[in-house]
Amino acid sequence: MTRFISGRTPTTNAEAFERALVVTPGGVNSPVRAFRSVGGTPVFLASGHGPYVTDVEGKEYVDLVGQWGPALLGHAHPDVIAAAHAAVDRGLGFGAVSTGEVELAELVLDRLTLTSADGAERRGIEKLRLVSTGTEATMTAIRLARGATGRPLLVKFAGHYHGHSDSLLSEAGSGIATLGIPGSAGITPETAAQTIVIPYNDEDALAEVFTSHGDRIAAVITEAAAANMGVVPPKPGFNRLLADTAHAHGALLIADEVMTGFRSTAAGWWGLEEAAGTGYDADLTTFGKIIGGGLPLAGLGGRAEILDLLAPLGPVYQAGTLSGNPVAVATGAAMLRGAGPEVYGQLPRVARTIADGLSSALSAEGVAHTVAWAGSQFSIFFRDSPPQNYAEAQAQDTWRFGPFFHAMLEHGVSLPPSVYEAWFVSAAHDDAAVERVLAAAAPAARAAAAATPAL
Ligand SMILES: Cc1ncc(COP(=O)(O)O)c(C=O)c1O
Repeated sequence: MTRFISGRTPTTNAEAFERALVVTPGGVNSPVRAFRSVGGTPVFLASGHGPYVTDVEGKEYVDLVGQWGPALLGHAHPDVIAAAHAAVDRGLGFGAVSTGEVELAELVLDRLTLTSADGAERRGIEKLRLVSTGTEATMTAIRLARGATGRPLLVKFAGHYHGHSDSLLSEAGSGIATLGIPGSAGITPETAAQTIVIPYNDEDALAEVFTSHGDRIAAVITEAAAANMGVVPPKPGFNRLLADTAHAHGALLIADEVMTGFRSTAAGWWGLEEAAGTGYDADLTTFGKIIGGGLPLAGLGGRAEILDLLAPLGPVYQAGTLSGNPVAVATGAAMLRGAGPEVYGQLPRVARTIADGLSSALSAEGVAHTVAWAGSQFSIFFRDSPPQNYAEAQAQDTWRFGPFFHAMLEHGVSLPPSVYEAWFVSAAHDDAAVERVLAAAAPAARAAAAATPAL
């Protein structure tokens, strides 16, 4: 007789959540999944194929969460699954070097080597260290920046999310924004004081922080294009300004491409800016999500002289039992191999059709809104104009999102359960899937129009 094990897999979302609440804080293993800002019971997913996911009750949804990014080719892409199976058959992990890690790093470096119009070679990164999560990647990047410069301070932007390490939760986006809290308990004032938070896209604030603290700043960390307070792209040239300002003061630029990497273009947001003529020199770049093809894998890349400061060559320590896990690197490599030009052509087409359809439906109901874009990523803000920073992102009719979200869900479309998250399309979103999203647009727009602010 056991107290907790029922021996029966839950068959309704309500039952699953009730049981989860007993054994897991808030019933979830990552806060945004809890539906706190939209209300209701989270949907427990049982499977995913192509653009669809199915919950434990057997209801199918068009998925616009995409595993929060990794599902670039859709769920359970046959080539990715085959690579995972083949790797599993060879063993789950060895805690030793394996060739798949090298092959994945070669694939990544290849994608991040571009030839500019004048024939010159431009390299986004020169070396790559694999870790298991985006949080680890940014945490290690900061340690490296401090180790390389011998300086303590970090500059980050309000509304940017870089994972949940202590230095990076001040005024962060994603779940911190969703829950409407300034940061996290449990972080010492001494640690918090090492991070200076400034408004995004604000040249004056940037100049001011470097004038005041320039010789103590180790690095500026930025989402290459912000997408954790809803989508807020950098102003044209802003990333270059960040690099130039940091370098002028002997500091480093950390470009966080955990979300945009291998999504905005084959070479991430950096590749998009290179093509646009606003290319910038990040010293360190972090990757996650797509690089692991759906399994826990992430990485940090950058200039060789900085990466070589990592142990075993240098004095900056970083390690991981599961780092470069052979199943995860095989899955990531299969995903990158499958993400060719047709994929990068398909994503913006799908995103544009969905965004236009939703925007028309909202306009027809007279709901003030705007669609904000960063490459093929978008999100809808319930305000008239695209925000440029966190304060503006928060200045919207956030209360319209819950009813909008639930109407979409009821009509078979799964959105990220927060107004502050980007939406993720995949190359598997075909006409049939897009049609289903568009069919849900009118009822969702009506729900948004009928919403009232909470008292
Ligand atoms: C830009 C960015 N950086 C870092 C992270 C943290 O990655 P992980 O959740 O794998 O720790 C995220 C997660 O969403 C992210 O969007």
